[in-house]
Amino acid sequence: MCGIIGYVGKNPCVPYIIKGLKMLEYRGYDSAGLATLVDGEIKIKKVVGKVNQLEKIVVNNEEGYIGIGHTRWATHGEPTLNNAHPHIDCNGRFVVVHNGIIENYKELKDYLLGRGHIFRSQTDTEVIVHLLEEFFEENIVYSFKRVVEKLEGSFALVILDKNNPQSLYGIKRQSPLIIGLGDGEVFVASDIPALSLWVEDYIFPEDDQLAILNPKKLEIYNLKDKLEKLNIKPVKISKEKISIDKGGYPHYMLKEIHEQPTILREIFTEGIEKKGNFFFFKDFKEDDNLWKNINKISIVACGTSYHAGYFAKYLWEEELPYNVEVDYSSEFRYRKPKIDKNTLFIAISQSGETADTIAALRLAREKGAKILSLTNNLRSTIARESDLNLYLRSGIEIGVAATKTFMAELAFIFLLKEYIKQELYGENSINWDDLRKIPVYLEKILSESNLIKEIAYKYSKNKNFLYIARGKNFPLILEGALKLKEISYIHAEGVSAGEMKHGPIALLDENTPVMTIAVQDETYNKIFSNLEEVKARKAPIIAIATENDQKIMDVADDLIYVPKHNSKYYYFFVTIPLQLFAYYVAEKLEREIDQPRNLAKSVTVE
Ligand code: AGP
Repeated sequence: MCGIIGYVGKNPCVPYIIKGLKMLEYRGYDSAGLATLVDGEIKIKKVVGKVNQLEKIVVNNEEGYIGIGHTRWATHGEPTLNNAHPHIDCNGRFVVVHNGIIENYKELKDYLLGRGHIFRSQTDTEVIVHLLEEFFEENIVYSFKRVVEKLEGSFALVILDKNNPQSLYGIKRQSPLIIGLGDGEVFVASDIPALSLWVEDYIFPEDDQLAILNPKKLEIYNLKDKLEKLNIKPVKISKEKISIDKGGYPHYMLKEIHEQPTILREIFTEGIEKKGNFFFFKDFKEDDNLWKNINKISIVACGTSYHAGYFAKYLWEEELPYNVEVDYSSEFRYRKPKIDKNTLFIAISQSGETADTIAALRLAREKGAKILSLTNNLRSTIARESDLNLYLRSGIEIGVAATKTFMAELAFIFLLKEYIKQELYGENSINWDDLRKIPVYLEKILSESNLIKEIAYKYSKNKNFLYIARGKNFPLILEGALKLKEISYIHAEGVSAGEMKHGPIALLDENTPVMTIAVQDETYNKIFSNLEEVKARKAPIIAIATENDQKIMDVADDLIYVPKHNSKYYYFFVTIPLQLFAYYVAEKLEREIDQPRNLAKSVTVE
């Protein structure tokens, strides 16, 4: 969601802010803005649209040495210039950028209006600068404490104060904010990629801590309960060479789809240590007897990560002795889950910052569950708040549509199952030769993407799709439908093939194509019968099937073959055609593939 960057130091700030905002574009946004302090005057520039447009209206080298920038994903109020951040108070002293939601903003706004403050936007954020204006006094730290105590909800804030031109102020609660220390300069941002070109030393403030960001002296205070100054040591993270070019691909999404074989290779080699036929995860040390002591696994996640979690339920219940529950993170609290110290709670989140998943994790923690997370960011809130973490090793994913991180989630779900079996029964059933071949077969599927492109173009004018599958393939088909929806804006309904007769079959006609996974696994015969039912309703069928399957030709109108292999591993294969199909439909329709409308990469509000 919203991206934040702030800079104060020896160099002109605007180039850092623009570049940092570009590195945060992947989070999703609809407007952008920045504020700098030049000769004692605050200058604000905003656009509805992209950072490139903002870049065009700012003068790079004349805009001061302290500034803040923001990309806004609209929550309160439409994407307009007035609603874009930064926001400024009545007297032009405080300027704020904000990520999160101030839940009690209406009460605060009414109070502030009563006090004569003039609001210029419809945002929840604007109350913050008016509160500062109202309550600021000589003791800066105490002033922030008073203001922050009035706020309910989630926030990461960076504030520029015209009267204190050497310092920015940063403060967070349940939304991510990190500090980067340079040489004679300090940075603050939503996420590491925004700073990784310039910074190696990071501080990760906790909730309700105020950072006074002055290049000569960085101070951090605890504002909750007792006011106290804290001594937080920076953490070194080597400068990542995160390239913001697309490596020759027209979109990050396509680049990331093509990275999947390499990521799997890396996970199957670097992600684990082999000892004979046994293997172990790096930096993963669970309590003795954890696997014997737990009697249930409870998984929470959202979106694509939820589909990975749902897949885990199918895969694990087949071979592990546990009942596996899967919830959307946002629904978890409402069903009053029965979890306790014998539950292993698993949070799956590529970003590690998804607000609903964090809330569910905290609830599980209260109930005493052991917490394991799968994230692609070891510095994220979810990773930090977990007892055990599996790192997805996918590199930063910039396309809003998750692709390579989903593949990595599938890989770790598979490995974790085998690892638990090994710890419980003293054996795993990995055929290492079969495993090694998977990335090679993924490359083969990718090399044949032209056929998938042709099929995608053929169906790109259709307005509705049904996506059907059974068993383990069901969560994967749901993921395929989500991919099509989010980047092409076409309605795609994912349905369990067995459920089709109980309602969705009414949707079928010659204008409703059906996408299906019909590989030769334990679901094949039943899905085949379901496809006959589809055919009888004249709906065109696109089937992802196993190479050389002749029988499937009787029902399918279009076929995407995946290589024949150990059927235990087909889930890795079928994922890529579903991603490519969605990609090429969206490309044909000229959608904004990497940043689809209304979506954010990191959903940091509940
Ligand atoms: C995936 O394509 C989506 N952009 C979205 O559903 C995403 O998977 C979801 O928001 C969860 O994100 P997380 O994995 O970072 O928690």
